[in-house]
Formats: sequence, C-alpha cells, structure tokens
Amino acid sequence: MAIVSSNKQPKEPQPPKKAKEKPASYSAEPSLLKPEPTGPDETNKQEEKLRPQTLDTYIGQKDLKQVLSIAIGAAKSRRESLDHLLLYGPPGLGKTTMALILATEMKVGCKITTAPALERPRDIAGLLVNLQPGDILFIDEIHRLSKMSEEILYPAMEDFRLDITTGKGQSARTRSIPLQRFTLVGATTRVGALTSPLRDRFGIIQRLQYYQPEELSQIIQRTADILKTPITPEGALEIARRSRGTPRIANRLLKRVRDYCEVKNSGTITHEIASEALQIYNVDPSGLDWTDRRILSAIIENFSGGPVGLETLAASTGEDTQTIEEVYEPYLLQIGYLNRTHRGRVATPAAWKHLGYDPPAHQLSFFR
Ligand code: ADE
Repeated sequence: MAIVSSNKQPKEPQPPKKAKEKPASYSAEPSLLKPEPTGPDETNKQEEKLRPQTLDTYIGQKDLKQVLSIAIGAAKSRRESLDHLLLYGPPGLGKTTMALILATEMKVGCKITTAPALERPRDIAGLLVNLQPGDILFIDEIHRLSKMSEEILYPAMEDFRLDITTGKGQSARTRSIPLQRFTLVGATTRVGALTSPLRDRFGIIQRLQYYQPEELSQIIQRTADILKTPITPEGALEIARRSRGTPRIANRLLKRVRDYCEVKNSGTITHEIASEALQIYNVDPSGLDWTDRRILSAIIENFSGGPVGLETLAASTGEDTQTIEEVYEPYLLQIGYLNRTHRGRVATPAAWKHLGYDPPAHQLSFFR
C-alpha cells in the first residue's frame, strides 16, 4: 500500500469512537500463536510425523520448490553436492522441513543444529569433520553464529577445508584438514543481521513466504488425516484463516480444536466447532492474539492511530522492541493492519475496523 504522509493530525487527539457492533471479547494469554522453535522432546517427535518427506508432498512455497527442484536435478545429473542454501523468513514456515526434504531427495544425511550451540570453534569443527560426502548441515538461527565459528565456516564452505590455528603471535601455526563436500543450509528470521562475507558464500538465497489460507487448509486436512481426525473443508479453512499464514501454528491450532471437538463429543471438526474452539483459545478471526490486539489498540487509543515510534510503542505495551519487530509486526504488516513509515508505526483503517473502531477521517486520508 502506498503511504502518503500527511500533516493533517488532529490538534487534540480524540479518544477513538467505537463502532456500533461490539467485537467478540478476547482475554489475555496464554497464546497458541507463538511459533516456538522446535526441539527434541516428545511433542516434537510427534511433529516429526507430520512433516512432509518429499518436495511433491510439500504444500505451498511454489517458487522456492521450483528453484530447489532445478538445483536438485542439476546437482544429481552432475553427481555433485547441492550448492549452499540460505533460507530466510518468519519462524514456523518450514525451513527445517525443507532441509530434511533436500536430504531425502539427494539421498544424503542431514545434521541439524542451531547457531547458539556452536559457540566454541571446536563445536563447529567437530560437526564438520564428521560429515559424510554430500551431507546437509542445517544451522538454524545462523545470524547468531559467533565470529570465530563464522570464520571457520568460510574456508569450509568455499574450499571444503578446515583451518586450525594453534599457538599465538609469532609461533601461531595453521594446519588445514580436508573436509568432505557438503551443503550448508542456513536458516534465519533476520537475513539483514548476517555479515556480508557469510551471506555471499551461499549460492542460493531464498525467502519463505507466509502461506495462503487455501494452502494452510490443505496442510490442515493432510495433518488431520495423519491424526485420524475427521474434519470438513470449512472447518479446515476456518482454522487456516486464523493461523497467521504459518503451518506450525495451523497444526497446533488443529490439535487444540481436536481436543475441543472430542470433549464436545462432536465427531467431526466443522466450521462451527473450529470457530467456537478458537474463540476459547483467544485466537480471533484474523488470527490475532491478545498481544497483537494490545499493540494495535495502544497505537489507536494512545497515539490516535500513529505514527508512533517503536521504542514508545514498546514502552506503552510492555513488550520489548525486538519481540514487537520480529514476532508481532511481520504478520500485522502482511495482513495490512500495520504500516511502518519513516515517522513510526501506523494502524491502518482495516485495523481500526477489526478492533471495532470507526477510523477517523485523518487516518483514512493518511492511507489514501
Ligand atoms: N506440514 C507442515 N508444513 C507442511 C507443508 N508445507 N506441506 C505439507 N505438510 C506440512
């Protein structure tokens, strides 16, 4: 949406007018919407069963799938390993799943780790020397690699060589150990936080997009099938609409709706069951939780809809700036409820309406 900045701010900010119809009420937390990173516990073992194993069964991310299927075909025909790949985008969209699929398609192993686990150079060196030919090394949150670990990766990625330096100053010696050819798959939610030498060493850099409701609905129906939970297409679409474009959230909401359905003895998840259950879990029809709504209502109620600076918004909501920027804003921007301008954050007329307010004239002209 084009943003035209306007000086037409009301002199005295008026308290926003509530529209006549009262929106459904949603209370504070707990939220099911945080796409927490996966780890090796029981719940996650169950999540493993839900992951698609091949590119063909992976739903959505059409452009990414096309790029990767060409890269796989070419690497296979040349009998080479895949080029290093950097995947970026919001959490929960399937970066780890994609790395596992690449390993299956290339018929190689996949080692999964996360940058904070590679703090000491010996952690990353240990992983590298144990790789088999063609293996995939998946490093999540790669923007958090320590400087020393990152420097070990440069010759490893470029020349498949591990440089080990012993001693200090004049007596320092560097020894090189050859490594097997491997593919580094780096994943990050913050591509801008990567150093350029690291970013430049990836041959393929791809962004994962939020999923469309229809794609999420297919994912939900596939998961329901695996979980042997009857669901109607309308029930799946209702969960999909409230899943913030994110498969991990969609599958989590499906499980909670399944609980509700079982307790209600309903047999099948219908549109009605899904929307009743998700209201109980504080997920509103646009997929917003209590904190999303608090951010938007703070902008509207305390700052006449904005613009308001990130720091001020953080202070007024009690969230930290990084959480607002990385967890909440991407989806609010995506669905057109929030805009970032050079003067700060602005709630769009759609956000005013969603929260049950009439957008004032100066906000409507701001977005015209
Ligand atoms: N489960 C989670 N993400 C999926 C996807 N993209 N396709 C199919 N099943 C999924």
